Amino acid sequence: MSRSPVSHETRIVDQFTRWAKPFAELPIHADAESMAQTVSACSVTKGMKVLDVACGPGIVACGLALTGADVTGVDLTPAMIEQARLRARKAGVSVKYQIGNAQHLPFEADSFDRVVTRYSFHHMQEPSEILAEMVRVCRPDGRIIVIDATPTPDCQAHYDLAETLRDRSHTSALTLQQLLLMGTDAGLFPLETQQYRLESRLQDQVAPEDWSALKAMFVEDIASGQDRLGLGAWNAEDGIHFYFPISIVVWRKNC
Ligand SMILES: C[S@@+](CC[C@H](N)C(=O)[O-])C[C@H]1O[C@@H](n2cnc3c(N)ncnc32)[C@H](O)[C@@H]1O
Repeated sequence: MSRSPVSHETRIVDQFTRWAKPFAELPIHADAESMAQTVSACSVTKGMKVLDVACGPGIVACGLALTGADVTGVDLTPAMIEQARLRARKAGVSVKYQIGNAQHLPFEADSFDRVVTRYSFHHMQEPSEILAEMVRVCRPDGRIIVIDATPTPDCQAHYDLAETLRDRSHTSALTLQQLLLMGTDAGLFPLETQQYRLESRLQDQVAPEDWSALKAMFVEDIASGQDRLGLGAWNAEDGIHFYFPISIVVWRKNC
């Protein structure tokens, strides 16, 4: 009798249950400069209704709540929601958190002024379906913001391979062109694209699944001098460092 394959959702919840606390505590996830850029790109005003999809430990949700927005966060992994509640308590803000699947957002159509998701699309098997759900729950003329790693077309395959060695719930990181096309296909009007690079140290990567293979890939990439990973990796005194290439894309939902 063959064993049933592990579903992608189970893989996500397993991974992020183990990672919830270290992910919440890793400083780069709350890096001040990128957070300021993120909050500014969301352009929220006091009282605006905002949804953070796949909110994880609520870093973006809390950042937006601190500006006075009325924020809701939804995530598939209960341990992440637990971390998110802790963070909101510590920050002294009120955020409505709930467990839920981004594939079927548990909200009425046209409910939010802003719908944002950060670092989640590369975990999705069908990111276009998640985007369609984000569009559904956003009010006409509201904004949808997607923030994620966007490798260049030349580096996408190598990047995905390295990320899969780090994290089995990685599916594929879209290139910026693919992400923008997805927005066009969803009927969205592009307002703004920004980019930032997030410096990270390889050994700080939360619980890599296959550490030796991942390290070997970086060592080879640095030795080749070709940057096939597109991460600009280098050897420093305290280990291998590299940059995550992140894009912020802001769209308007047409009336
Ligand atoms: C890399 S973390 C990012 C967390 C947070 N957005 C941030 O930027 O700090 C990815 C999150 O996506 C969540 N996730 C993955 N697939 C999901 C889905 N289908 N529905 C809801 N959440 C999902 C995971 O549980 C995890 O918390």
